[in-house]
Amino acid sequence: MNPVILLVFAVGGLWVIQKIVGYRNALRAINYFPGHRTVFDIRGMSSLLPRIPYITGGRNGGWKRKHDLFAKLDRDIISFAATFFVVADPGAIKEITASRQRFPKPVEMYKGLQFFGNNIVVSEAEEWKRYRKICGPSFSEPNNKLVWDETVKIVHDLFDNVWGSRKEIVYEHALEVTMPDTLHTVSDGFIVKLLTPKWAVPYKKRFRQVIFAFEELERHMHEMIDSRRNAEKKEERYDLLSSLLDANDDPTDGQSKLTDQELLANIFIFLIAGHETTAHSLCFSFGLLALYQDEQDRAYQEIQKALPGGRDPTMQDIPALSFIEGIMNETLRMYPPVVSVPKISAEDTTLSTTNSAGEKIVIPVPAGVTVNLHAVGLHYNPKYWTDPYKFSPERFLGDWPRDAFLPFSGGKYKITVKEDPAFAGETFEQKKERVLKAKGGLTLTPVRMPLVFTRRDW
Ligand code: HEM
Repeated sequence: MNPVILLVFAVGGLWVIQKIVGYRNALRAINYFPGHRTVFDIRGMSSLLPRIPYITGGRNGGWKRKHDLFAKLDRDIISFAATFFVVADPGAIKEITASRQRFPKPVEMYKGLQFFGNNIVVSEAEEWKRYRKICGPSFSEPNNKLVWDETVKIVHDLFDNVWGSRKEIVYEHALEVTMPDTLHTVSDGFIVKLLTPKWAVPYKKRFRQVIFAFEELERHMHEMIDSRRNAEKKEERYDLLSSLLDANDDPTDGQSKLTDQELLANIFIFLIAGHETTAHSLCFSFGLLALYQDEQDRAYQEIQKALPGGRDPTMQDIPALSFIEGIMNETLRMYPPVVSVPKISAEDTTLSTTNSAGEKIVIPVPAGVTVNLHAVGLHYNPKYWTDPYKFSPERFLGDWPRDAFLPFSGGKYKITVKEDPAFAGETFEQKKERVLKAKGGLTLTPVRMPLVFTRRDW
């Protein structure tokens, strides 16, 4: 046989054997836990391939199959391709999101978002904390108000200047209303940007469009930075861009808290993460309202009642707009922008779920295995949402299963010591001694630890 062909066969054969051995090892590591078995998992390049039974999971498999695979295997945690777990169990999700140490973010899975440098999404541990500390304070009530007021202005501009006096405005794709063109091309063209070598750019129109959009966005970011830096009047210093700029401009100990590259990379990530999610959600909500005219009428009536004479809404009107809030929640339930959130197990541990008979199933999770929090599986789980495929904003009006709603991932809580007037004048050391007082027992036991857990804004 031709030695070249022989070599190709030998390398191919070795690759197949390696795949099979790896697959068997992966199955053994997860104790042969039931799941969806394919040779390639749904991450990486294989996510671009169509669905081939036993070989690939198919494009958007997780989204398309919603809760079906969980129902088929009669449990709310399943394994996928033997290499990772997918979780649609509210209790297990709570456990995973409660501890960033036990289940950190698998940063290497986000590396593709590093075009402009290191940022809050592609980092974890100390680096993540540094970014979080800079950005966190911006997500505050004054900033909410700023966003609210800007939104009202933008909608006025759309109605008055873009739509003008036209009676009917037709869009082939409603995303045109909710998302600026450049950002749409950038977010849609991520893979193109990642995989296209520079020399190939001139040869295809799509490549040129994407690269141009990235360049335009970079120019726009520099303009934003320059115009904010050169602004004569410095006000509204509580917004996110200002926090990032301050961290870049004001070296406290001779070193800026953010380098120029980190500044650009974080502005980029916030622009993309913020626009994609909200623009897509708004677009889905428009589509749902267009299809469910009765729900739209109900929304319109609520608005007429809450905002007599068509006046502009303020944040104080939010309680009177509960059906509108229901529409947004129901949209996020049915179309969660982030379909699943990956975490990684930092240690050998276990998770548990139940089957339809209510029996407990304990799953050994080895260290290093990815655990995907599957918002779609959870949001379409009939155990928590009756008739899950039905658009019904009303389900959010009364009591609803908060633990089975995960569009923003798990809620994290800020822990503080409970205020007590009896100890008003105490020093930090006194407070520390009081709160952390311990006594012996079977194991060391805290005596009395009055704490407050406050849900964080994001
Ligand atoms: C409908 C609106 C939105 C949804 C459903 C959404 C959802 C999510 C989810 C599920 C995550 C992953 C959390 C995790 O890893 O545990 C995330 C992360 C993130 N989102 Fe959003 N998001 C929305 C709006 C926004 C907006 C408006 C911004 C910017 C202003 C933003 C910026 C970010 C950033 C920077 C991260 C990474 C945070 C980190 O890794 O610490 N998102 N978002």
